Amino acid sequence: MSRATPKSPNLAAIARREDAEAALKRITSIGLLDKSRKVIRREDRVEIPVLRQLSEFDMVVQESPSFYLKLPELSAALQDRIPEKCLSLLPRGWFILGDVIIVKIHPLLRDYESQIGHALLQYYPRCSTVLADEGIAGQMRQPVRRTIVGNRTRTRHRENGVVFHLDAREVMFSAGNLRERTRMSRLGQGEMVVDMFAGIGYFSIPMAVHSRPKKVLAIELNPNAYEFLCQNIRANHVQDIVHPILGDCALETPRAIADRVLMGMIQVTDRYLETGISALKPGGTLHYHQTIPSRQFPEAAVREVKEAAEALGRRAEILKCLRVKKFSPGMVHAVIDARIDSDF
Ligand SMILES: C[S@@+](CC[C@H](N)C(=O)[O-])C[C@H]1O[C@@H](n2cnc3c(N)ncnc32)[C@H](O)[C@@H]1O
Repeated sequence: MSRATPKSPNLAAIARREDAEAALKRITSIGLLDKSRKVIRREDRVEIPVLRQLSEFDMVVQESPSFYLKLPELSAALQDRIPEKCLSLLPRGWFILGDVIIVKIHPLLRDYESQIGHALLQYYPRCSTVLADEGIAGQMRQPVRRTIVGNRTRTRHRENGVVFHLDAREVMFSAGNLRERTRMSRLGQGEMVVDMFAGIGYFSIPMAVHSRPKKVLAIELNPNAYEFLCQNIRANHVQDIVHPILGDCALETPRAIADRVLMGMIQVTDRYLETGISALKPGGTLHYHQTIPSRQFPEAAVREVKEAAEALGRRAEILKCLRVKKFSPGMVHAVIDARIDSDF
């Protein structure tokens, strides 16, 4: 955690363009983003407005900061249109994918969701559609979302220098996994990589764009997500690196060829662990995602990796254990990085 010093006017942290998303996330997570000013992209760097000096970043005092017009609270915008007792239930947060706004709406506000949607669109004139979010379901991790305003759910989302085409009603894109997507974009240079749960290319494409692996085999079970994966490979010009495979990774993952295996699935990932480990050459790296009770972080996931390696006569050396995000009350989405050696 950075040391706080007295507030200085118009301070900004400096980040390289490729590090800006991660820096912004870090500054937001420690509550020191100055939300009254805009992030400014310069030719060689990005300036992130902060409330105080941060020892982990180079700093600058902005001579010409750019200020946001403060958004009114949704409750102020809707006070004449919904009953007063409902105002405190209004959403306080939402996220934006391309030009689609995604918002969780309290069940008691269902009759007013169209008003809420229109109020949100007024804040973001470049957006055209608002979806109500009701979670993610099933093995293919498909979102459960209803359109409440607009009708265009296919969109183009930009992040960390990568373009993702997706349909916000049909395929998931987790705002909470941004730091992990950015971390993956820095790994894999020159390597042979297998992405067992590729989705629309969440990890494969940032890695291909920024780190240029030799080859990424990107396996995806859901034909709909697979179509977007193929479109995203073309849109980001990484056809020479990312090879998409439509199918079940339990059947399609090759053996003993990979320097790095990505297992970006949760809840059922343990069922595929032996397949993931078997894909690695001796000394290769596994990224094992799993949801575990917060109080058992990281032991519960580490145990799964070690036991699966042992069952195959191999040894797992744990390199890193990270919390990707809170998953549900008392549960965390964890990722374990492990080096898998040939045997004992
Ligand atoms: C949770 S999503 C990936 C999320 C991603 N890690 C992120 O950062 O947002 C998992 C993907 O794995 C796919 N999937 C599930 N089971 C699979 C299997 N057996 N083989 C290949 N893909 C599978 C799902 O269809 C889904 O697109």
